[in-house]
Amino acid sequence: MAKTRTTFLCGECGAVHPKWIGRCPDCNAWDSLEAFNEPADGSATVGTVAGVAVRGEHRADGALGLLSGAVPLIEVERLEVPRVPSGLGELDRVLGGGFVPGSSVLLGGEPGIGKSTILLQAAASVVERQGRVLYISSEESPQQIRLRADRLLGDALSEGGRAGRELFLQADTNLVRVIEEIRKVEPTLVILDSIQMVHRADLDAPPGSTTQIRRCCHDLAQVAKLTGAAMVIVGHVTKEGQLAGPKLLEHLVDAVLAFEGDRDHGHRVLRAAKNRFGSTQEIGLFEMSDLGLRELDESGLDIDVDGPGVSGSVLTATLAGSRCLPVEVQALTATGFLGSAKRRATGLDSSRLAMLIAVLEKHGGQRLADQDVFAAAAGGVRVADPAADLAIALAIAGAHHGRGLPSGTVAVGEIGLTGELRSVRNLDQRLRELARRGAKRAIVPPGAMARGIDPGLELVEVAHLGAALAHLD
Ligand code: TYD
Ligand code: MG
Repeated sequence: MAKTRTTFLCGECGAVHPKWIGRCPDCNAWDSLEAFNEPADGSATVGTVAGVAVRGEHRADGALGLLSGAVPLIEVERLEVPRVPSGLGELDRVLGGGFVPGSSVLLGGEPGIGKSTILLQAAASVVERQGRVLYISSEESPQQIRLRADRLLGDALSEGGRAGRELFLQADTNLVRVIEEIRKVEPTLVILDSIQMVHRADLDAPPGSTTQIRRCCHDLAQVAKLTGAAMVIVGHVTKEGQLAGPKLLEHLVDAVLAFEGDRDHGHRVLRAAKNRFGSTQEIGLFEMSDLGLRELDESGLDIDVDGPGVSGSVLTATLAGSRCLPVEVQALTATGFLGSAKRRATGLDSSRLAMLIAVLEKHGGQRLADQDVFAAAAGGVRVADPAADLAIALAIAGAHHGRGLPSGTVAVGEIGLTGELRSVRNLDQRLRELARRGAKRAIVPPGAMARGIDPGLELVEVAHLGAALAHLD
């Protein structure tokens, strides 16, 4: 007889506990734990979510590493995290190598940014790699999705390949039916697009309410753990980034991805705000085309290093995980009101911008107190890297005086509160990337040459912001 192990499952929230306790520590429900015997080989077991018995490969232990009590670190078994590659290299990069079976991912983004598009493309490519996908739509009809699929997948569909047979569509908003379907279809990957409309009939709260969204998201994460399917849950974000989405749900899922970009421009950036199975530094680059999202590599970001020096525009390079991206920083100043001048940052950190404006005033001899200042990272890339400080300061001062850096000149460096230029990490890598794009000169913090950096462009070392400003002409 196969050995079994007894664990206790909370009938209210689905949490799994190694011992029986009177009150579930996860949801505080009394007397809700039920024993079930789990074969020690980890094969089929059963749990209950939203009243639906879910059978599958029990992954809860794997995902959570549940142990009975504390054990010394050395006795904890290493876990090889298996992956289901999405087939989209840029998405896999952000996920950390692909979807993790039994885990749940929340994908947030403004309406129209391309969430449904990227997921349908990922779904088709998971299917192509012998997986099975269930795509549940709570917003669009199967016909609408079919229409999008025809456009995105084209030949793959008409040729009768796997995409047409192993990609299942369901249009539903009732969580219980959704879970029933997950149980029947036994997919490798479940996509729920989107969480906003999904509801449980037994909850005394309207669809779309905080209670419904949280509970449904929690239940779906539980189903993922129990069945071993990878779960992707879509949540919308409003312009202000507010929504009952990511903020509300991030602690319920294993990873939170944000899909960003300018709706009116082609570039899209995918980043991880949280990732239990990978780095949050990596970003994915895409471009929206007529045939869906196209993956971009760094060279796809068109940066014009050779262009004429324009006032208010300075090129720099930012690090995003393992890659280095050239970025154009733009600034504009306009006469505003002393004491209530506007400062707006797009794609840049706004408190960093305020600090740089203050340093420009105090140590750069610039009068900006009555100037509205707008600064942006062009192209949809968000820059939180202090190495962009010098480019931002030069762009603002340049915009203010109608001056620019000479053509082919770029700037990389962090600025301290006293106006001194400070060295940045991986300067060599950044400058190499800019040189590859045609940069001829770089304004950098002192010490670069002494460290033997030779990226193939002329280095102009400056110690202070004031000296850097002298290069604007
Ligand atoms: P969509 O994926 O529906 O966005 P979301 O699910 O985030 O709301 O797509 C958004 C936009 O992308 C839509 O306005 C149409 C456009 N689009 C293309 O330009 N090309 C395409 O191939 C597809 C499918 C959509
Ligand atoms: Mg959509």
